[in-house]
Parts: sequence; structure tokens; C-alpha cells
Amino acid sequence: MMKVLDGVVMELQDLALPLLGDVIPTADPAVAFKDVAAAFLVGAMPRKEGMERKDLLAANVEIFKVQGEALDKYARKDVKVLVVGNPANTNALICSHYAPSIPRENFTAMTRLDQNRAQAALAARLNVKVDKVKNVIIWGNHSSTQYPDAAHATVALPSGVKPVLAAVNDEKWLNTSFVETIQKRGAAVIAARKMSSAMSAAKAAGDHMRDWWMGTNSGEWVSMGVLSDGSYGIPKDIVFSFPVVVQNKQYKIVQGLPINDFARSKLTATANELEEERTEANNVLHKK
Ligand code: LMR
Repeated sequence: MMKVLDGVVMELQDLALPLLGDVIPTADPAVAFKDVAAAFLVGAMPRKEGMERKDLLAANVEIFKVQGEALDKYARKDVKVLVVGNPANTNALICSHYAPSIPRENFTAMTRLDQNRAQAALAARLNVKVDKVKNVIIWGNHSSTQYPDAAHATVALPSGVKPVLAAVNDEKWLNTSFVETIQKRGAAVIAARKMSSAMSAAKAAGDHMRDWWMGTNSGEWVSMGVLSDGSYGIPKDIVFSFPVVVQNKQYKIVQGLPINDFARSKLTATANELEEERTEANNVLHKK
């Protein structure tokens, strides 16, 4: 892929970004991960038609083992790691397993793309610009079991700030079409483009890392796949998407949001899937 990488280098130069100091194209983890402070792990083996999940995890254990070990050896100990490649949540877990000298909390998975999708869908429904919608939550896995939750979201209308629930005034739509559209959006993009999302995923990765680095706006939270500490009754030791706020480069899971029965069933389903993925990943790890 080194020839392909040359094209990426050209594009990076042509972006004329004032903050871009240097580009080092390499296939050597020792070079790539040297003193890294923010790592975007984009490459993974996504599931293809007919592929069993265990085949997928076996391939990803190999990929994330190399990257985890390289982070452990060469990166800064406070490196912030964002896993984009699927299955992103479990890949983040595997990666942290191979980087024991780096705090496990520093390994996160991207659900910002789902958050952006949910925000855009609500803005379209309410006929407002996307930045008028705040505090949508993505719970759980970056997969079709995720739960996009508008129950705590607000929208700034010309008449004032309102709960999205009241502004949409259609709970059935919020609990069915809205949820399903966001859950299946990645697959819909693949079906249309014959390739997975690129621009929107890159934007979301930038959003995730910027907010982790610079902090979240007051009164706002964002969704990140982070190591579960048992908040909201979610099992510990899975990488689960929660609403978080960030200050001084540290994220904190937002506590105390009410979870109704409908939301609880969705949280349980996506947590169950992540526990299954963890079991399969552990099976692969123990066979090695
Ligand atoms: C997306 O959400 O667009 C991607 O994660 C889809 C995929 O499977 O690559």
C-alpha cells in the first residue's frame, strides 16, 4: 500500500492546512507510533458478506495486537486512542489489552458518526440547521444494535429552546423510524456508494478527538465509546458508547439521566452484543 500512501501524502499537502507540520508515510509501527499523542486507528478488517464474526475477530486481533503493542512501546503514555475501524468497540478493547502500560480509559471507539447522523436526521425533521440540535445520545455499540436516543435532546427554535421530544411530537417515529435509520445508516451508505462512509467518518473522527482534546461546550455532552465503569447498570469492561463531558482532556460519563423501560431494553440489547463480542475476542486471544 506504500504507493497508495504516496497519493494520500499528496492530498494532505494539497489541503494546505496551516497546522500540518510534516507527514511521515511508513509501514513500520516503530516509526508510525513514535511519541504519538493522538492515534486514529482507521484500518481494520470489516465484516464482509458470508463472514462469521469469529473470523472477523480473529483477523482484527492480529491487526490490533500489532497496534496495541506498538502504542505500548513507542507512544506517549497519555496517548489518546480513537478506534474507527470496525468492530470499533471491541477492537478498542483488544488494542488496550496489548498496551498494558497505557491507561485503559485512553482507548475509545467512534460513535460520533452516529451522533452526527442522529443530529442531522432530527434537524431535517425539525427543519433547522444541524447545530440547533444538542445532546442526542448514542448508547452502546457502533453497530445495528446501537440506541440513538433523543429523549434528552434539545432544539433551539426561533421561539426558544425546546425538548426534541416536544418539538417532534411523534414518539412513535422517534422510537421506530428514527432509531432504525440511524442504526442502518452505515449499511445504507455502503449500499449506495459500494464503499463505506469516508467524508462523514473523517469529520466525525476529527470531532471526537477535538472535543477530547479541547473539551466540550458547557451544558453539552457528546457520545464516545469508552470503557464501561458500570454506569447505568451497563456491565463493566466493555467499550460502550455513553454521553460524556470533557474537561482538561479527561472525559467523564454523564450521570443520572433517567432511563425508561424502552431505553432500558435497547441498552440491554446493545450491551449483550458487546459482551458476546468480548467473549469471542477472548476465545481468539486464549487460543493464541
Ligand atoms: C459506518 O457507520 O459508516 C461504517 O462503520 C460502516 C462500515 O461497516 O464500515
